[in-house]
Amino acid sequence: MFVKKFKFVFVIVLSLVLFFVFVPLSKKTAYQNTKELQQQTNDVKFKKGEQLYRANCISCHDAAMTKIATAPPLGGITKKRDVKWLYDYTRDPNASKFKKDPIVMQIRAKNWGLMPASLHLKNEDLDAIYYYIEERYQMTLKGIPVPLYFRFNELENKNAQWCIHIVKEDKPILFARYNTKKQWVFGCKEKHTPIDWKPTTLHQVFDKDNTVDDVSFLQVGFYAKRSSKQSEWEFFKE
Ligand code: HEC
Repeated sequence: MFVKKFKFVFVIVLSLVLFFVFVPLSKKTAYQNTKELQQQTNDVKFKKGEQLYRANCISCHDAAMTKIATAPPLGGITKKRDVKWLYDYTRDPNASKFKKDPIVMQIRAKNWGLMPASLHLKNEDLDAIYYYIEERYQMTLKGIPVPLYFRFNELENKNAQWCIHIVKEDKPILFARYNTKKQWVFGCKEKHTPIDWKPTTLHQVFDKDNTVDDVSFLQVGFYAKRSSKQSEWEFFKE
């Protein structure tokens, strides 16, 4: 009898310990990754490089820098190639001086096809692009996923939901979720009854309060909360 009771208590205590250790741990990892992403997006050079990479390179080269796309992945390239070579090549990969270049011949042998010229890119632009490529590559190696490629203000005008209190009572937006159906939801607090949610668009939400842009890099299945419009967002996994 005593042993049975002891076993029972033991199982309960063990479950509780496991719950309190592992639930916060999983949240913490998600939070730290998200926090790191946020720090990276505060880095001006990183941001500039990201923008230029998105505008000029991402249509062919992998966003995470590791996968084969229609062109080779660029992770680690700054360590493999000389800077001048990289800059000249990026601006004009099919220039006649590259015809007999041993590195170019090696790349060509893989039959990727041709890379178009980007003559408009200045040295400062390429500094930022290759800085971004290396940083983003390091993030991928650490398991940090590539954020969704938009900020609310530049995004196509997607449908979203917000709570009626933001519209009718001018309450601040203190809760944001990017749910697993890839829908954005904004509230004055987390919990609402279903009839409180009203349709809106991302542009409308952004016009109402442009500080929500700070959560625009949230991954699917994450949500964010803050205690006032001035305070920092805290990030959680569903
Ligand atoms: C239209 C598709 C396309 C775009 C856009 C593009 N590339 Fe490429 N890139 C390629 C292809 C294809 C190759 C392989 C070329 C070959 O085989 O001759 C390549 C090769 C490269 C290489 C050589 C890799 C090595 O091993 O040395 C670098 C560096 C590179 N690209 C950087 C860039 C950067 C930076 C941008 C943006 C400014 C960019 N590319 C835009 C298609 C593209």
